[in-house]
Amino acid sequence: MKINIAIDGPSAAGKSTIAKILAERLGYVHLDTGAMYRCCALKARRNGIDLDDEEALCAMLENTDIQLTPQGDVYLDNEKVNDEIRTDENSLAASRVSSLGGVRREMVKRQQKMAEDKGFIMDGRDIGTVVLPDAEVKIFMTASAHARAVRRYEQNIAKHLPTGSIEEIAKEIAERDERDTTRSESPLRKADDAIAIDTSNMTIEEVVNAVYERALPYVKEDED
Ligand code: DC
Repeated sequence: MKINIAIDGPSAAGKSTIAKILAERLGYVHLDTGAMYRCCALKARRNGIDLDDEEALCAMLENTDIQLTPQGDVYLDNEKVNDEIRTDENSLAASRVSSLGGVRREMVKRQQKMAEDKGFIMDGRDIGTVVLPDAEVKIFMTASAHARAVRRYEQNIAKHLPTGSIEEIAKEIAERDERDTTRSESPLRKADDAIAIDTSNMTIEEVVNAVYERALPYVKEDED
């Protein structure tokens, strides 16, 4: 039996990294829902649409195609935008558009359709609570603000992206955390039935194994 796995948590907690590796190990498809909010923000910025104008953003989304490929590429209206959506400026913009109810409803609808068949590992903020409340495995992944800032900094360097200092990134992360956890629409929170994992002092391999263990009973069923 294939299942769906929901991974939620604050920014830069390692959700995407873990989900990607786990998807390969299980033969599942990883869907990074944050990339969809990032695409929405990027298109709005390019078109000079106010990031708080819910109506204009929703109208824009009616004519916006976002594709997440199993290989991890992100296409916005058929243009590959893997790196452009991940700049620090676009991260803040994504946080802003994601606080709007109309934008969220449209994204959730698309995400639920994507994961209609099982076999997905979806990461985001509201997957276990709103998008896939019936997911068989739910993980809530956290890490200290400092650990997350260091990781994002190293990621930026490795990807040759423009980057602020660790302190600057930590400040941005704190700002996004604040907005993501206090917004009225689907704030970031742990689903009651999610397992919390603090990854601050864990290696990637250790986190992957911890989540894999939770999925194992279902995978085993498959082999029997
Ligand atoms: O996971 P990320 O950092 O790429 O997400 C970008 C922004 O989108 C982040 O500020 C939170 C928001 N987001 C959300 O509200 N719900 C999701 N399911 C995924 C991301």
